[in-house]
Amino acid sequence: MVSLKVLSLLTLLGITTAQNATLRYMPFGDSITEITCWRSLLWEKLQTTEWASVNFVGSGKNENNCKDTKYDRDNEGHSGFLAIDIANKNQLDGWLKTNPADVITMHLGTNDFVQQNKPVADVITAFTKLVGTMRTHNPKMKIVVAQIIPMGIGSYNTKIQQLNAQIPTWAAGLNKTESPIWVVDQYTGFSGSSDLRDGVHPNASGDQKMMNVWYPGLLMALAAAKADQGTTTAVKFIA
Ligand SMILES: *[C@@H]1O[C@H](CO)[C@@H](O)[C@H](O)[C@H]1NC(C)=O
Ligand SMILES: *[C@@H]1O[C@H](CO)[C@@H](O)[C@H](O)[C@H]1NC(C)=O
Ligand SMILES: *[C@@H]1O[C@H](CO)[C@@H](O)[C@H](O)[C@H]1NC(C)=O
Repeated sequence: MVSLKVLSLLTLLGITTAQNATLRYMPFGDSITEITCWRSLLWEKLQTTEWASVNFVGSGKNENNCKDTKYDRDNEGHSGFLAIDIANKNQLDGWLKTNPADVITMHLGTNDFVQQNKPVADVITAFTKLVGTMRTHNPKMKIVVAQIIPMGIGSYNTKIQQLNAQIPTWAAGLNKTESPIWVVDQYTGFSGSSDLRDGVHPNASGDQKMMNVWYPGLLMALAAAKADQGTTTAVKFIA
């Protein structure tokens, strides 16, 4: 029989180890996630916090010549991809199988409108499937979803605004205590003329704005993921 003293020591060790386990964060999206520099700015900002050890994960390492040799470039940004296609082809399933995550940010929908003028409702349906995939892989996935940035070209912002307007209600409807969804607004305050380098992708000013908007959402998600790790392991050791 294990003595009470040993048992509580084991519990203590369990909690301590779990709280220091590395959290895995997947930046998920299209080219606005892949060939940009907000991930570099975000990583650099995290280095000054308790979240310095967070592991960025994903199958790609592309960026936009960010001139930052230190940051963790791993990401799941896929240039040109539609939310609808990623959902229909079950691509996120494979990506999360290869790179499991505790926390994920999603900025998607731009290509659905810019490339194929898809209906807003179909993008929302795709989002629902993607959230389902995230939770199949990790029932406690902490999810941050962006209301997406405006375009500086064409008249795509009408549909982008319609999508963005629907995201908060959609997210609230899927919200779960163990797998919260936080919505961050990447549209408001982002200029289609002075924050984009080519009418589509953020320049230095846009990258900075995107990082500033992701940051508080990501911190909430990381804190929730860390809190989980403590309780899960503690329960395991006590049982
Ligand atoms: C674990 O994290 C705590 C603070 O969260 C810190 O005090 C402790 O030194 C860390 N332990 C290890 C082994 O890194
Ligand atoms: C989801 O729930 C969390 C609390 O667990 C809350 O902070 C967040 O704002 C909710 N998200 C939405 C979209 O209502
Ligand atoms: C961003 O790009 C726009 C033109 O696309 C330009 O007006 C602006 O000065 C640029 N800002 C930065 C910080 O690169």
